[in-house]
Amino acid sequence: MAEILNYMGLSFDDVLLVPRRSSIRSRREVDTRSRFTKRIWLNIPIVSAAMDTVTESRMAITMAREGGIGVIHRFMPAQKQAEEVSKVKRAENIVIEKPATIGPEATVREAKDLMSFLGISGLLVVDRENRLLGIITRRDVIFEDDGKLVKECMTPKESMIIAGPEVSLEDAKEVFRKHKIEKLPLVDEEGKLRGLITSVDLVKREAYPSASRDSKGRLLAAAAIGVREREVERAKLLVEADVDVLVIDVAHGHSEMCMEMVRRIRKIYGDEVEIVAGNVATQEGVEDLASAGADAVKVGIGPGSVCTTRLVAGVGVPQLTAVMKCAEAAERMGVPIIADGGIRESGDIVKALAAGANTVMIGKLLAGTDESPGAVVLKNGRRCKIYRGMASMYAMLGREFRLRENEAEALLDASEYSYYAEGVEAYVPYTGSASDVIKRLVAGLRSGMSYLGARNIEELKRNAVFIKVTAASLRESAPHDVEVV
Ligand code: XMP
Repeated sequence: MAEILNYMGLSFDDVLLVPRRSSIRSRREVDTRSRFTKRIWLNIPIVSAAMDTVTESRMAITMAREGGIGVIHRFMPAQKQAEEVSKVKRAENIVIEKPATIGPEATVREAKDLMSFLGISGLLVVDRENRLLGIITRRDVIFEDDGKLVKECMTPKESMIIAGPEVSLEDAKEVFRKHKIEKLPLVDEEGKLRGLITSVDLVKREAYPSASRDSKGRLLAAAAIGVREREVERAKLLVEADVDVLVIDVAHGHSEMCMEMVRRIRKIYGDEVEIVAGNVATQEGVEDLASAGADAVKVGIGPGSVCTTRLVAGVGVPQLTAVMKCAEAAERMGVPIIADGGIRESGDIVKALAAGANTVMIGKLLAGTDESPGAVVLKNGRRCKIYRGMASMYAMLGREFRLRENEAEALLDASEYSYYAEGVEAYVPYTGSASDVIKRLVAGLRSGMSYLGARNIEELKRNAVFIKVTAASLRESAPHDVEVV
């Protein structure tokens, strides 16, 4: 017999947070750091959704620079997805592990051509064993004869400033300051070239002090995979591209297939990569995925702005309740949770975190920005972008067509997709730069935290008291009885 739970399922709009006594003087005092996975912390608790109208490398780079992370979607060939990950990892190379080099016997012409082809201002000169011999820059060759040899024009190693491969970024900065150089080659005890640090990259690093970085100073990248057999190969390419987090991303995460995929990926890669899995909306879902080895669990069945799962399948749990329940299980299991879907305003982020989420995943609010894939279109004279659910009819059709080309997989009758769709395609207003959107959301989060007297996310959870509200108070909460300009 079916049973009915003896509690109500609540959504973000069903509650407000009660203000608390606060000793916070400025919103800047508030620390928004939070755990994304067991081992990865983010300076801001915001993750961009693994959707083809939200996150590819451009969005992922911006998200990581702002202190969050982007999950590159999986609805493209695996090789292309791995390239997108590489773009994020290369965006701010603090240590360039394989710097561009040239041999001493090459001509000045060859050096000039290589520099302009790579768009760089200098090359390191190495012998066949990769031992550093010198450096040749655009300035060295600009007025030189094209036929001359590199070794005749280069600055020899003896006159260069070099460092060991383990040099710290602080020491490197000091070397740049003291010697007024732009490139610092890293050389091991045998004299072999092990890397290069450039002052330009260090400057970029200073420009984004909150950025999410790996131990080598590169931006963090996450990428989604599915649960089918071929996704093991996708995971391999992504790990080879140095992805930091694999997100096993399926509509019904509390499934044997998803748990099995978590176990398989864990077995293959051990702790080399963090694993997120989802989506679920129950404590059992969190427990099962965490037991299978997930480092974080994603929560949300049907709250998303372009989701129709609850209408089509009649299945779901209102998001605030889902987060609160799942957070209890997550605490027991020692894994963080990600509240995925339904964030329409910064206030919803505050509520989701207060309810127990560690981070939130956002689609719609980022879909209208410059950094999301797709062009700006005009609709009734207003600038818009297209945003679509990944289970919407056209998204599914597009996938099947690509698969058929690549893998000769049987194509389901196209008309069937209109029956299977659990999402819609939509216009969203064009909203400019993602970085500005994120800054506004974080400002709202800080505001919410200061109303609750919370200096960090832990205190936010501890101080949170929700009050249920009526439809009348919902009207009172938004601008009312005025014409908004
Ligand atoms: P928001 O509200 O930020 O939600 O736009 C983004 C999340 O929505 C989920 N998603 C879907 N859910 N059908 C669904 O039921 C879909 O077609 C669909 N596409 C995306 C996903 O969890 C995403 O992060």
